[in-house]
Amino acid sequence: MSKPFDFDIGRLTGEANYSGRPPADFAQTPERGTFFLETFGCQMNDHDSEKVAGVLLARGYRQVETPEAAGLILYNTCSIREKAAQKVFSRLGEYRAKQSQGKIIGVLGCVAQQEGEDIFERAPWVSLVCGSASYRKLPELIAQLESGNHRVTGLDTDTEETFETEITRRDNPFRAYLTIIEGCDKACSYCVVPYTRGPERSRASDSILREVRQLAELGYSEIQLLGQTVNSYKDPTPRKMRFAELLLAVAGVPGVRRVRFTTSHPSDFTKDIVEAIEAQPKICEHVHLPVQSGSTRVLRAMQRTYTLEEYLEKIAMIRGVSRPIAISTDIIVGFPGEKEADFEETLCLLDEVKYESLFSFKYSPRPNTPSLKMDDAIPEEEKSRRLAILQDRQREIQKARNARLVGDTFEVLVSGKSRRENQWSGYTSSNRLANFTSQEQELLGTYVQVRVTGATPNSLVGEHVV
Ligand code: SAH
Ligand code: SF4
Ligand code: F3S
Repeated sequence: MSKPFDFDIGRLTGEANYSGRPPADFAQTPERGTFFLETFGCQMNDHDSEKVAGVLLARGYRQVETPEAAGLILYNTCSIREKAAQKVFSRLGEYRAKQSQGKIIGVLGCVAQQEGEDIFERAPWVSLVCGSASYRKLPELIAQLESGNHRVTGLDTDTEETFETEITRRDNPFRAYLTIIEGCDKACSYCVVPYTRGPERSRASDSILREVRQLAELGYSEIQLLGQTVNSYKDPTPRKMRFAELLLAVAGVPGVRRVRFTTSHPSDFTKDIVEAIEAQPKICEHVHLPVQSGSTRVLRAMQRTYTLEEYLEKIAMIRGVSRPIAISTDIIVGFPGEKEADFEETLCLLDEVKYESLFSFKYSPRPNTPSLKMDDAIPEEEKSRRLAILQDRQREIQKARNARLVGDTFEVLVSGKSRRENQWSGYTSSNRLANFTSQEQELLGTYVQVRVTGATPNSLVGEHVV
């Protein structure tokens, strides 16, 4: 999917004391007290990086735009597919020479958790290895680095706690991410996340709502609730707020105009969530409901805990309400043992559901996962062939779907401004990217009505209607 035009306004939230002591004898470099942070992976990683940046800023560090300008170089990594993990090691290789210049290099996130101390063997120039389930220890680990310790790790995953910081450096000035549940207790046979992010832990509903109120006061109008299985949320407080109730409570906070949530697991997707969306227009009309395969046989091998029929019941529930809720999904092709007939079932599912958008992947065998040892691996060329067919089919579906929207008018939260004059971009409630023209001078962060004049498979083209 194409990205909207970028902007680089950053914002800090929280009550940190910015006079925080600058790191003293940390790394004998001219860039002392500065950090560079690059993030790979999913939105949860993006948001973790916002919190990690907050931890460092609170300690008096300054964030810089290039590794060259930094004393501390951090990579927040992803291990979901082999290619993602390889990218991390090639990036680390590029910065090998930096260590000899006195820079400190750290690996965070899912590759850190997955590879653990082996990273020190593979890349001895690395000084910090810390997985997301240990981030609450980051201040302590950073203090150890500052005092000259060269091999520091945070690799526990048995923690009961979630990672909260006094201060978070949010990258987007209008939309705030907020993790409500960390880790994952599902056991999909292909997936590293339960190992890299640890067991499921939900954050207390009162603390979530307190943060939402603060965010709204700071001017964030769109709140995006995050979790690998966000709808498996279990309020640990006596209030025991259900996920659907939490959505309604977040939407009810004055100043909040949009609430999004991702990713939903089909097995925990209950009727009350759809009812909440129907009842409260501030909850966006978009559900990301990864199916992974259209074949019950493959779903069983994937340990996805639902059949195709059960999944389709959830789709019918979502499509059965008065609001036109957009549905997107994730699909893996070439899972071990996936026959041509299984793949055909996945194509039939696309034709039946007509998803608004799709993220599709070739199966990638991952360390420690049960599917690693499964027979009947699908050859790489065959995976590529299936992926291309799937993506072609979906492109046609999106082309037809989006073409039907020409003439309609949508509310768009303006989040990007093009270099080209009078060109803006933003997202509809249904999460469609809209590029549009407007004669107005200042639109960033505002909600505007956009009439659709054209469409591509991945975006809408339109004009601002005043
Ligand atoms: N928690 C979410 C998504 C997790 S990762 C869920 O359960 O749906 C995002 C997507 O990456 C998954 O939905 C899946 O489609 C894909 N993915 C995960 N592991 C993979 C693997 N080993 N090979 C290929 N794709 C994978
Ligand atoms: Fe991975 Fe499955 Fe958990 Fe999603 S639900 S993070 S795919 S184990
Ligand atoms: Fe990647 Fe970890 Fe997210 S493996 S997709 S960064 S949870």
